[in-house]
Amino acid sequence: MKNRKESDHPDFWEERYRAERLPWDLGAEPVELASALVSEFRPAGRVLIPGCGSGYEVRSFVAAGWEVCAIDFAPAAVARAQRILGPLGDRVQQADFFTSELSGPFDLVYERTFLCSLPPERWPHYAARMTSLLRPGGWLAGVFFYGTDPEPPPHPLSPETAHRLFGSHFRLHVDRPVSAGQSLPIYGGAERWQIWQLLPDPVP
Ligand SMILES: C[S@@+](CC[C@H](N)C(=O)[O-])C[C@H]1O[C@@H](n2cnc3c(N)ncnc32)[C@H](O)[C@@H]1O
Repeated sequence: MKNRKESDHPDFWEERYRAERLPWDLGAEPVELASALVSEFRPAGRVLIPGCGSGYEVRSFVAAGWEVCAIDFAPAAVARAQRILGPLGDRVQQADFFTSELSGPFDLVYERTFLCSLPPERWPHYAARMTSLLRPGGWLAGVFFYGTDPEPPPHPLSPETAHRLFGSHFRLHVDRPVSAGQSLPIYGGAERWQIWQLLPDPVP
């Protein structure tokens, strides 16, 4: 997943989905999500899945009673997710997280390796967009990349950067490495399962 300059443009991803060159694709929902759907993400509500890629998680959320809006801006990713999801394919739409109109508020935004696919210049915009799409007290949760990469993307987060981005609006509730067997070579074992909660009022 190289070529930093273009990774905020759909063509960068379109090319890779068309060629089925998908080193970030887990091929299934993360095991952490399966357990959070039972223990943490209750009651079910409305979830947004930005940068959904193949969209495996859509099925898990629907089965747990969630209303799902999954988006990706690469047409080939949307087509792939719709093929994989069959009758649930209508939960996936082609849309840009930053510029498309998305009908919030959402109770939860779930993402896996979407933030690290974006150039870091866009991260403050990502954080601001999350605060406007979530209801107060809502959750931002999923798999985030905290490793190193000499030639990004993926662009690694650090705890300091995460604090700078989210610290004044969110509180970190859950933070642990993904389970053994859930890391992909491209992320080198540095994915973390995190659950952030949007505070009703920003921390001064
Ligand atoms: C590293 S992939 C992760 C895909 C998926 N979440 C997964 O876990 O396999 C990043 C995804 O974000 C999508 N993406 C990047 N920028 C986007 C944007 N501004 N709006 C919507 N999707 C975007 C890409 O097309 C790509 O599918």
